[in-house]
Order: sequence, then structure tokens, then C-alpha cells
Amino acid sequence: MPPVWPLMLVALSPPNFYRDVLPILQTRCQQCHRPAEVAPMPLLTYRQVRPWAKAIREAVVLRKMPPWFAQPGFGPFSNDRSLSQHEIETVARWVDSGAPEGNPHDAPPAPHWVGGWNIHTPDLILQMPHPFPIPATGDVDYQYIVIPTGFTEDKWVEMAELRPSNRAIVHHAVVYIREPGSSWLPEAKPGIPYVPPGDTPRERLINGWTTSDILLVYSPGSLAENWGPAMGKLIKAGSDLVLQFHYTPNGHATSDQSQLGLVFHRATPKQRVITLQLGNDRFVIPPGDPHYRVAAWGTMPNDTELLSFFPHMHLRGASFEYNIIDPDGGRRTLLRVAPYNFHWQLSYRLAQPLPVKAGTKLECVAYFDNSRNNPNNPDPEEAVRFGPQSYEEMMIGFFDIAVPPGTGKDKFFVRPR
Ligand code: HEC
Repeated sequence: MPPVWPLMLVALSPPNFYRDVLPILQTRCQQCHRPAEVAPMPLLTYRQVRPWAKAIREAVVLRKMPPWFAQPGFGPFSNDRSLSQHEIETVARWVDSGAPEGNPHDAPPAPHWVGGWNIHTPDLILQMPHPFPIPATGDVDYQYIVIPTGFTEDKWVEMAELRPSNRAIVHHAVVYIREPGSSWLPEAKPGIPYVPPGDTPRERLINGWTTSDILLVYSPGSLAENWGPAMGKLIKAGSDLVLQFHYTPNGHATSDQSQLGLVFHRATPKQRVITLQLGNDRFVIPPGDPHYRVAAWGTMPNDTELLSFFPHMHLRGASFEYNIIDPDGGRRTLLRVAPYNFHWQLSYRLAQPLPVKAGTKLECVAYFDNSRNNPNNPDPEEAVRFGPQSYEEMMIGFFDIAVPPGTGKDKFFVRPR
């Protein structure tokens, strides 16, 4: 009979890097912590990780890393990166026992990180024709850059990724699909950064408003889009892509020349994905109010499937939730993001599409903290209204739905009689 003590020894031996910690880093951290991605330092090798051991312990124990703000109990979400309690304890015990290296032979195979793109090799790469200069300081208006696709046939997009050349100053970017015949931004010249007319940032934002479908939203920490083999975004022949950028100066004059990579479906997918939004722009958040509620809601005009959520607020955002209220009154929360973190604008993707019937109400409820206890608050004395800059506020709940391939936004909103 074999002795039992070696088993106990295994159980009690401290975690080591190659066997216990590296697998966690590979699945939960390296997507951002590798060269040319959003995080400041790579965490690929023992030599890279060792100096950060203490900071890593703190970041995972306090759940600051990986960034994930959905309260537990909703979802499941396919892009949930949060660590299990067991994983947190493994990292903590590893650091507490001196961060031992272990044996390289115990390392799992290195994941295949393709340099650059996080999607398959793009079928098409579109680039801003000129670098956009960003001053060292001040506010930069939202810039709109029209990029004609030149497509002579309809294209179905399976994957899409926006890669800024300078991530430090891209606060967010939205890529819109402007279909032929659209009357949106008629004066914008292809490739030339354009700011809609208006005397105030708010007017310029409103004059840049569109109902065009969104291809993707980029923000620091966001993932590339991959709708999978059965779903895609439609770019009709002759469409333009319009890139809307919010650049935020960071003390150094610099520039950005973003690239957009697209992977196409070879045939029409089973479902089309469209991005919708519920928003409220009529609020006034009183000075000092720690818990100000703003809501928005709408009713599904047709049966559909919900795919993902993307809440958007600014520095006073405290929490954001999505609820559905069935035609028979049943109410259910699908996602609660709390605390909301302005620096991490994330999408939350349902692991399974959620079918919803026509007549179902979708409700977004946001809370804002305009008190001085909010460390991000630019000015607790201010009554805060809707506006594009970070010291103003926004309340938008984006969500993606799946519809039949022949249904666009217009058709989806035709209510059956
Ligand atoms: C979605 C991208 C992303 C993922 C995933 C991610 N990080 Fe980070 N991490 C960042 C960025 C960006 C920063 C720098 C900005 C900041 O601190 O918020 C950062 C900062 C850090 C820091 C420095 C924190 C400090 O206090 O200065 C540590 C340590 C860290 N990450 C560890 C991890 C570990 C460990 C994981 C996986 C368990 C992980 N990160 C997953 C993007 C990411």
C-alpha cells in the first residue's frame, strides 16, 4: 500500500508560479497585461511578475483586478473575468510564501497571443488617413471621422476591433455604420476630422446625434467584438463608417491614428445584431446629492433576444442596473453594476441570449453621487446636467439584440398591429 504522506505534502506545499499562478494569469490577466495592450506592465514570465507580487496580491484581494463590476448573482456573463475565491486565495498564499518559482516543466502551454489584433487576421484593415493631433491640455470636442468603405456588396461582420495607436488619450470611440442615403453629417469630408456645428459642447453633441447602427464601442479594457458563427453586424454596400472619438489630453501633446480590423462572414449569418440604447438627457443632479436616481425605459416592439449590456455614465456615476418587466408585471434585474467605475467602461455579455417577448419593458436605473464623498467628483457644488465632457453627466444604457438578418433598426421598431 503506498504511503499517504506525499499526498498531504502536495496539499500543504505552497502554491508556486508555474503550477498554480501562471494558469490564473494566463486566463484572467494576460489579455491586458502583455506588450501593446492596455495595461502598463506585462505579466507573462516569472521575471516580469515577481517584482509585482505584492501589488498583485493587493489588487486581487481587494478585487481591483481583473476589472469587473457586475454584482454577483446576475448573468452568467461570458466575459466575466472575476477570480473565484479559490483563485484569490491561491495568489495570496503564493505571495505570502515568498512567491516561489516552482518548476518550469509544470507550466501550462503558453496561450497563443497573436501580436496586435485580438481577432483573427482581419480581412480588411481601415485606418484613419491622418494622425489626429491632441494638445497637451484642455477639452477636445468629439471628433467625427468618415471612412468610406467602398463596399460594392453587403458585408456581414463576424469580428471587429478598434486599435488606437495611442491608447493613453482615447477616452472612448464609437464606430457607426452610416448607410447610403443617410442625412447624418452631410458636411463631413471623408478622412477629415469633423466637429458638428453648435455654440456649446452640448449643442455640438446634439447636432452629432444619429440613429445609425453602432458597429462597436471602444473604451480602455473593452474586448474586441466577436459575434460568433451565427451572428453578425451588417454593413450595407456603399456604407461609410463614422468614427466618433473622445480624446482626453493627458499633459503631453501627442497624436492618434487608430485602425479598425474587420473579419467577415462568408455567408449570411442566422441573426443580425443591432445595438440600441435607452437614455435620459433631462436630469439635473442637485449639488451635493449622494444618491440621485435617473431612469429610462422602453418597450420591446417585437420579440427579440438580449445579448449584452454597456452602461455609460461619467465621473458621478455610482451604480447602473438593467431590469425587465414582463407584460404580466414580473420584474427581474439582469445586471447591476456597482460600484460603477468611470475608468472602466465595460460591456457585460450574457453567456446565453435571453429571449424577450414584444411588450416587455426594459428599464435602466442609474444612481449618481454628487457629494464630496465621491473622490472622482469634479465639483460637488455644481448642479449637473447632460453633456459630453467628463465633468458633465450622461446616462445611457446600450444593449445589443439579435434579430432576423433582414431586420434593421427601422423594421424592428415597427410594432405589429
Ligand atoms: C481588462 C484589462 C485588464 C485585466 C484583465 C487585468 N488588468 Fe491589471 N491593470 C490593467 C490596467 C489598464 C492597469 C493600470 C491602470 C489601473 O491601475 O487601473 C492595471 C493595473 C494593474 C496593477 C497595478 C495596480 C496598482 O495598484 O498600481 C496590478 C498589480 C494588476 N493590474 C494586476 C492584474 C492581475 C493580477 C490581473 C489578473 C488577475 C489583472 N491585472 C487583469 C488592466 C487589466
